[in-house]
Amino acid sequence: MAIRNIVTKGDDVLRKICRTQMKFDDKLAMVLDDMRETMYKAEGVGLAAPQVGLLRRFCIIDVGDGLIELINPVIMETSGSQIGPEGCLSIPGESAEVERPMYVKVRAQDRFGNNIVVEGTELKARALCHEIDHLDGILYIDKVKR
Ligand code: CO
Repeated sequence: MAIRNIVTKGDDVLRKICRTQMKFDDKLAMVLDDMRETMYKAEGVGLAAPQVGLLRRFCIIDVGDGLIELINPVIMETSGSQIGPEGCLSIPGESAEVERPMYVKVRAQDRFGNNIVVEGTELKARALCHEIDHLDGILYIDKVKR
């Protein structure tokens, strides 16, 4: 495993729409392992592929209840809302209040291509929305309420 460089705001790669991940191979597993190590070292709760320079539709999150790897995630359901502080490893040292759903349900694939469903409330819902936004070139600063 290896620590990867985290791309910061201003890099075009953070503003592109990521391509569907088609192959569930050793290369994907290696990138996911690197992303995990990179996220934990940076003390983040989520990391998306474009943040390590890859325009691919996958991300990882860990809000303290274990690592979740989401390949080709799609938000299926949301409810409620919450407003709270949010930051991003690609925008170091900053945070702002962002409105997100209180609950989200996501379908995705795991690193082997198996279908999975992940649900979350509060911080987990926020992290899921934040990371999935990255896959569409959206940063939390786009959603800050003035
Ligand atoms: Co982020």
